[in-house]
Amino acid sequence: MTTRTSQGILAEENAEKREQVIELLTKAYWMEIETVMSYITNSVNPDGLRAQEIVESLRQDIQEELGHAQQFAARIKELYGVVPGSLEFSAEQSYLQPPDQQTDIVHVIKGVIEAETGAIEHYNRIIEVTDGVDFVTQDMVIAILRDEEGHRRLFEGFLREFEADGLA
Ligand SMILES: [Fe+2]
Ligand SMILES: [Fe+2]
Repeated sequence: MTTRTSQGILAEENAEKREQVIELLTKAYWMEIETVMSYITNSVNPDGLRAQEIVESLRQDIQEELGHAQQFAARIKELYGVVPGSLEFSAEQSYLQPPDQQTDIVHVIKGVIEAETGAIEHYNRIIEVTDGVDFVTQDMVIAILRDEEGHRRLFEGFLREFEADGLA
């Protein structure tokens, strides 16, 4: 304990702030884990010609979201936290459940946009909370936020195309 630095988020006097950051990172970790599950599901289930581009894109995103989960987990540990076990997981992505018809790709696109939007909101919050006190977490989350903004933009483009074709 006496070897701890006196500066930044690892400082003794920032213990309370550190707990808050760990809590936010833990939520982020679970969001990424659930996104991995949802993207696996939705990269396999859809049927039809129009679904192929979306399926391929989700397939690639899975690895990226998994990487995010690993980064959040590593940062939790660096902040003296403990990464939770699977029994603490509770699902929230009601909007990314399989649609009634597996050709309903618009349902998937909208679900992905909602998931990415939720991540973007939560990560912006972490960036605000860590400002001035934990630049390392902030820097990491800014990079992840950029990925999520890219994902959302891509799927907004997909949705736009379906809307233009009168399919959404
Ligand atoms: Fe992610
Ligand atoms: Fe994403």
